[in-house]
Amino acid sequence: MGKCSNCGEWDTLVAKKEALPRETSNAAAAFATSVNQYGDEKEAIQLLDIEAPSIGRISTGIEELDRVLGGGLVVGSVVLVGGEPGIGKSTLMMQAAIGSANSSQNNSQNNSQNNSKPSGSVLYATSEESAYQCKLRAERVLGGMEAEDLSGVYVLSDTDLERITAQVLKLRPKVLIVDSIQMVYRDDIESTPGSVTQIRRCCLELVYLARQLQMAVMVVGHVTKDGQLAGPRVLEHVVDVVLNFEGDRHYALRGLRGLKNRFGTTLEIGLFEMGREGLVEVDDATAFLDPDAPPRAGAIVCPALHGSRCLLIEVQALVAQGTYGQARRRANGLDGSRLTMLSAVLEKHAGIDLGDQDIYTSTVGGLKLTEPAVDLALCVSIIGGYTGIALPSDVCAIGEVGLGGEVRSVPQIEQRIAQVRRRGYKKLLVPINQQKESGIGCIGVASIGDIGAFLQENAIEIPSDTRLSDQEKSKFAECG
Ligand code: TYD
Ligand code: MG
Repeated sequence: MGKCSNCGEWDTLVAKKEALPRETSNAAAAFATSVNQYGDEKEAIQLLDIEAPSIGRISTGIEELDRVLGGGLVVGSVVLVGGEPGIGKSTLMMQAAIGSANSSQNNSQNNSQNNSKPSGSVLYATSEESAYQCKLRAERVLGGMEAEDLSGVYVLSDTDLERITAQVLKLRPKVLIVDSIQMVYRDDIESTPGSVTQIRRCCLELVYLARQLQMAVMVVGHVTKDGQLAGPRVLEHVVDVVLNFEGDRHYALRGLRGLKNRFGTTLEIGLFEMGREGLVEVDDATAFLDPDAPPRAGAIVCPALHGSRCLLIEVQALVAQGTYGQARRRANGLDGSRLTMLSAVLEKHAGIDLGDQDIYTSTVGGLKLTEPAVDLALCVSIIGGYTGIALPSDVCAIGEVGLGGEVRSVPQIEQRIAQVRRRGYKKLLVPINQQKESGIGCIGVASIGDIGAFLQENAIEIPSDTRLSDQEKSKFAECG
């Protein structure tokens, strides 16, 4: 209304918002009281005198997930699991629900006071699917288990957080799963479901509930196109653990990585393969290396570290003629800006002209490699792709490359070498100052300028059966 109907003046109307009742808007205060369980002292005390509360952990029955969590779900904590749509978050949650319903808690003293019902049930609150869809998925992922193993899992298909809370108070589950936080809402908050206000408020409430009832909560959160947890940067402060489920949904391999963990390291990675019957744990990504693959130009294996594990991952590069000034650089599973930088370093210090060459790089299996220690392998594969020279398939490379083309040392070289040897690789290109400590089979590289010569010396003939013979070519030609 532009004109006031009472006084007849224009532009005099002012919007006024009614404040929410105090007890519903003050979630932060509720959260603060929930923190009191860690001690109700109101005075500063000496660090020495603080006694550690015994942390109860619940195994999820999935070893890879437990490892990333730091040994299982902590009682009274909230875990946020993020990932792109279709990556398998709901599948993982369902498997974890079944697993934790059937696992015993390794420290139940915290749990006993609140639990009047026999402990052991898991509540799976889904706000995106019907209960029947959950049942279908559960049957699919059961694997070797019996149908009775589902008896401890309860499903609630609802989006209203109040009703979910009511069910929690009734069932008193040891684990609550909320799939997903974007879809649950509170009626008394004006903003729409999925808005930052709703998400933060609902999550605070879940944190409060987890602390109060001493149960573990797992919350699923969606990830936006650019890979951020949607809305939930605010959530990352509120929850105890943030896990990211990553990988390419077109590949089978999935990695579960910790971004924040109040009860363990964030270096660990859990590996899964999406199969017909849900997610299967992978204990070594070597499963994705094809031992019989013929040697190819532009491919080399790299021992990359993920937490306590060293995984052998193949790095590939395709270098193809492009347009000068518009050369493309594409990185799949690798850091794109690192690729651009390394291409410039190669031009300057390895004497190859990439100005009119398109470069496509990727990791086999789609697993993300983020550490700079993969630089050398990436450089070797680019030079290999550019020159067309193939190395024997028992060679791998590790090292960080600096802007001056120098190859720098990498952490935990011993562990990488041990893994490489265990897998039967004979030669490893390492930074020159780590060559001594590495032993036989390790070839020190001082600068990427030396790689060209190494490729020349060790070049092998690419088996002809991977190419078309003249006869086959003429056959194709005949077919038009
Ligand atoms: P889903 O867990 O629903 O993904 P999210 O909750 O992250 O969106 O499932 C992801 C995809 O996995 C789905 O498109 C189908 C596939 N899938 C399998 O290949 N095998 C299986 O056993 C299951 C349950 C799903
Ligand atoms: Mg889902």
